[in-house]
Amino acid sequence: MTKAQATPVVHIDDDRFKVTEWQFAPGAETGWHVHGHDYVIVPLTDGTLGLDLPGGGSATAALTQGVPYSRREGVHHNVTNAGAAPLAFLEVETIADHLAHVRRDVLVRFMAAWNARDVDALMDCMAADCAFHASAGPEVEGRRFVGREAVRASYTAMFEAFPQAAWTADNHHVMGDTGLSEWRFVGTDKTGKTVDVQGCDIFRFDGALIALKDSYRKNRG
Ligand code: NI
Repeated sequence: MTKAQATPVVHIDDDRFKVTEWQFAPGAETGWHVHGHDYVIVPLTDGTLGLDLPGGGSATAALTQGVPYSRREGVHHNVTNAGAAPLAFLEVETIADHLAHVRRDVLVRFMAAWNARDVDALMDCMAADCAFHASAGPEVEGRRFVGREAVRASYTAMFEAFPQAAWTADNHHVMGDTGLSEWRFVGTDKTGKTVDVQGCDIFRFDGALIALKDSYRKNRG
């Protein structure tokens, strides 16, 4: 027997939040879904949720009107009104948070690509319209490489200049359209000289990808 479907009413849908009111007749269900965002549930009624879980498990959860709870993205379930009365809650999804997670994953992948000396993987992290500002050079910005070809050539030249190189002690942060990666670079150049220095990249994002890598590092001496 097909169960009645819960009714979603979208109240807010912008670049930061999606707020959906879910209304359930007794026995109605949402259907199976995976949450793509962190979210908060605000019960609009008291009630009992029935939760079908992956692998065949199930559970119930008591809802208390006005008492919210939060969950992280990735929750996978089917939700049913297991009580005898109609039930409703607001689901508040944090859209911007999701983009921050995606961008942070790009920064982690980008650093892994440096350590793998994989220029294709590096360019997969760069936006169609991109630039690299190297830490050393004659310009206010260091040295500017603008456009995918110039950026790719500069990354390739970096690997040629340093036959051995490792980026370690990395930390990645995303704040709005800006990213920050901290690192320690240890490399040996073609002449056998070792460079061991801390630095960071400040990134600007275009969507999920890197539009600008702006590099800074300590000047030892
Ligand atoms: Ni759900």
